[in-house]
Amino acid sequence: AQIEKGGFKHFMAKEIAEQPVVLAEAIQRGVANGTLNLPEDMDFSKVERLTMVACGTAYYACVVAKYWFEKVAGLPVEVDVASEFRYREPPITPNTWAVFVSQSGETADTLAALRFCQGKAAKIVGVVNVPTSSIARESDIALPIRAGVEVGVASTKAFTCQLTALALMALKAAQDRGRLTAAELAQYIADLSALPGLVNQALLIAPEVSRVAKELAEAQDILFLGRGPLFPLAMEGALKLKEISYIHAEGYASGELKHGPIALIDAHVPVVVLAPRDALFEKTVSNMQEVMARHGKVLLISDAAGLEEAGMGCWRTITMPSVPDFLAPILYAVPAQLLAYHTAIAKGTDVDQPRNLAKSVTVE
Ligand code: G6P
Repeated sequence: AQIEKGGFKHFMAKEIAEQPVVLAEAIQRGVANGTLNLPEDMDFSKVERLTMVACGTAYYACVVAKYWFEKVAGLPVEVDVASEFRYREPPITPNTWAVFVSQSGETADTLAALRFCQGKAAKIVGVVNVPTSSIARESDIALPIRAGVEVGVASTKAFTCQLTALALMALKAAQDRGRLTAAELAQYIADLSALPGLVNQALLIAPEVSRVAKELAEAQDILFLGRGPLFPLAMEGALKLKEISYIHAEGYASGELKHGPIALIDAHVPVVVLAPRDALFEKTVSNMQEVMARHGKVLLISDAAGLEEAGMGCWRTITMPSVPDFLAPILYAVPAQLLAYHTAIAKGTDVDQPRNLAKSVTVE
């Protein structure tokens, strides 16, 4: 059946708006009778290492997942972009699972990396949106993300569904490895069940974002900062923005600011700070203050408590719902997506079909 825009101006807007529904479906499938419901052969008890491989937005989903698997499950994770992985010929130790994340399931570099791992006797896990795709078919375990068809070249709902599938996997790994009490698991599941509602609430920032975006559209360069699992979100926010608005943007770990990018700061460079009020908040705020001391224009995206504490003196602020730390990277995908979308609208670029980019890259 032909996919329609359903009253939205762009597929990207429709796909951003669909997230509460598709995430709710994905979570309902991933949880049954109050416990995790993943493919039966997905048993992490003997796994010693994960190697995760992907391209583009799916790569940033893997970088977030590394924080989750290591922290919650105590499982070491390596992450690579597929084009580097396949030629590096990394040694694959026994009891390594190789995880390939891909919306299309057809990305040439990711598929080639999968085939390299097949030859090394690693268990192959595919986290894919298109269930009939090559990567799904060639995986030992295929975990569908259930985002539905994604048309916009800039990935949105597939990213948050990839993250949700990987979050469920990380919890399963923690459970299999004896890292979670029943009460802790129940709390994670309850938090996950509340996520679609939080995403719905986060979507209400759109009018504020649209106002700020008119100003961002004037910028030549924009920096995104985040710490911990929000660091990959900073990179994803920058990727999304450059893909569709053609503004140069970079995502940095907040703590790395002083090792280079601070040289770029002046009164013309907007700095988007993704900072939920988590355990690392104070540290991110002190990095943000280094920007402000150099007259940088800080756009602070945080929850009400975070803005109350640190919003003074920022150029602009956007208020997000508060969210459990574990799920913050999923929720903060929403402002990253909306900033890119509304900045592109302000610039008048072709949001769904940005120049030089393809939805699925089946050549090397
Ligand atoms: C292309 C798309 C990106 C996507 C990347 C990986 O570059 O424009 O949006 O993130 O490919 O695609 P995949 O289908 O493997 O997730």
